Amino acid sequence: MSDNQEKAVDSSRRNLLIATSVAGGVGGVATLVPFVSSLEPSERAKAGGAPVEADISNLKPGEKMTVAWRGLPVWIVRRTPDEMASLSKVTAELADPDSKETFSYPMPDYCKNAYRARAEHKDLLVVVGICTHLGCIPSGPYQANTNAALGHDPGFLCPCHGSTYDMSGRVFKNKPAPKNLDVPRFMFVNDTKLVIGKDEKGEA
Ligand code: FES
Repeated sequence: MSDNQEKAVDSSRRNLLIATSVAGGVGGVATLVPFVSSLEPSERAKAGGAPVEADISNLKPGEKMTVAWRGLPVWIVRRTPDEMASLSKVTAELADPDSKETFSYPMPDYCKNAYRARAEHKDLLVVVGICTHLGCIPSGPYQANTNAALGHDPGFLCPCHGSTYDMSGRVFKNKPAPKNLDVPRFMFVNDTKLVIGKDEKGEA
C-alpha cells in the first residue's frame, strides 16, 4: 500500500471512531470498545503525527467535540452568536488578546484575527484543549453567568488552578496560565469536514 493510500485508510478509521464516540455517548461505550483496537492508526502514522479528519456535520451551535491529534485533545467548538459577540467585549480582560505569544505551535496566519478562526467559518474554533499552565484539560464551554469563575463571560475553566479562557481560547489576565490555547494548523475539506494537522502549506 502506498503512503497516500495508507494515510487515507488511517483518516477513515479515525473518522469512524470519532463519529461513533460523539454519537454513542455513554450507551455507545459497550459497543465501541471491541472496535477500538482495530481502528487504531498504524504505528507509523502515530509516530509521524498524521493529520486527522473530523466530521462536523452534527456539531450544533454551543457544542464542542474533541479529536485526538498527536495524543492531544483538539477541540472543535461551534460558537453561538452570543459567544461570538462576547469576544470583543472581553478584550481588556485578556492577557494577550492578539495572541502575540504562542505556546507550543505557531499561530497560523489565517487565524490571526479577532475570532482566531478561518474566514470561511468564523464561528468554528479549533484549539488544543490543554491548559498552558501545567497541562490540565479545561472544562466548558460555559455560557455567560453560569460559572462564578468566569463571571458574566462565556468561556472555559481549568479546574486545576483556576485559569479561565474566553470563547477563542485566550487566557484572562492574572491567572496561572501564561499563554492562550494553541491553534493547530487545520483546513476545511468541505463545509462539514475538516482536517487537523495540515493546511494549504502542508503538515504541521
Ligand atoms: S493547569 Fe490549568 S490552571 Fe494550572
